[in-house]
This record gives sequence, structure tokens and C-alpha cells, in this order.
Amino acid sequence: KNIVILISGSGSNMGAILHAAEQERWAERLNVRVAAVISNKADAQGLALAQSQGVATAVLDHKAFASREAFDAALMVQIDQFSPSLVVLAGFMRILTPGFVAHYAGRLLNIHPSLLPAFPGLNTHQRAIDAGCKFAGATVHQVTADLDHGPILAQAVVPVLAGDTAAMLAARVLTQEHLIYPRAVAQFLRTQNT
Ligand code: GRF
Repeated sequence: KNIVILISGSGSNMGAILHAAEQERWAERLNVRVAAVISNKADAQGLALAQSQGVATAVLDHKAFASREAFDAALMVQIDQFSPSLVVLAGFMRILTPGFVAHYAGRLLNIHPSLLPAFPGLNTHQRAIDAGCKFAGATVHQVTADLDHGPILAQAVVPVLAGDTAAMLAARVLTQEHLIYPRAVAQFLRTQNT
């Protein structure tokens, strides 16, 4: 079974998934592999990391397409070359069209850096600080047509500390993302098997 991971940036969640799949041997046990990493940005740092792990990479620049629909159609063609059982969004900073989401229904996961349903969308850490939240966190969820609102698979909670900047809180949340996302992916693949 194949997994395709979509990224836009540093790809640290992607790296955590690759690392866990190898270290915890679930890739072997579940007979899955990360077949490809696709980025909408040519300069995404995660591409080099994927290549260093022997994973195929591709870049599809959204700016080369006239519409969201055209980009998503081309992205689907790229992804479907690998016939994935699971598509993992890991810091993929594009809003997906309903057609794309429907095409991968039941096999599309995302991680969002807030305790959903609180703070969907962007700037989650600053918004949590501004709201006076004492806790923040991250959520792994299935992707549905409603942005950041699909069924929740896993969450991690971290404290918001006095004097936190958005960057400080983001870093604290990110360390937890790296723990819960690989676990949630493995768990999801297990349930797909049964
Ligand atoms: C993560 O915080 C993710 O939740 C958010 O963007 C960040 C991506 O980090 N959507 P990385 O590319 O996995 O390092």
C-alpha cells in the first residue's frame, strides 16, 4: 500500500512520519510505504529531506495554474500515479477543492495546529494567545469538504505559558505534532486493513 504526503514547507511532520514508519517498523508490518512526497513549492525544505530518505519527490507549482480546480486536477493526476491508500497533508498550505476532497474521501488526513474545533484556519497560535487560552495543541483529522472540520483522530494538548510568543507556542505544539501524526497515520492504516 502506498502513502503520498503533500507538503509546502519544512516538512518536519513528513520527516516524523518517515522516521516513525522506519523505526517502529509499522511500514513493514502494515506493508505500506511512503511512495512520494509532492510539494506545491519548489523551495520546500522537506523535499531534500524526503530525497535523502530515498522517497520520490515532485513539485507542482500552483501559480502555474489558472484556477484552484485546474491545480487540483493536475495534483490528482500526480497523486494517482501512486494509487495511494492514504494521502497525508503535512503543512500543505493550499485549500483543496470539493472535487479533490471527494476524490480522496476516507483516505485523506490533515494535521492542524490547534485544538479543533477551536481556531480553524490560519494564525492559530496568535489567536489562542490573544483569546487568553491556557491550553493549545494540535489535531489530526480526516479531511472533509468543510475546512478543518473533519472527524478527529488524535489530539495533543500543551500549556500556553505566560509571555509566550506565537513562535514559542508553535514550537511547543510542533513537538507534539511529531508524536501524534505518525501514530494517527499508523492507527488509521490499521483500521483500513480490518
Ligand atoms: C505544522 O504546524 C502544521 O500543523 C501546520 O503547518 C506546520 C507545518 O510544519 N499546518 P512542517 O512543514 O510539518 O514542519
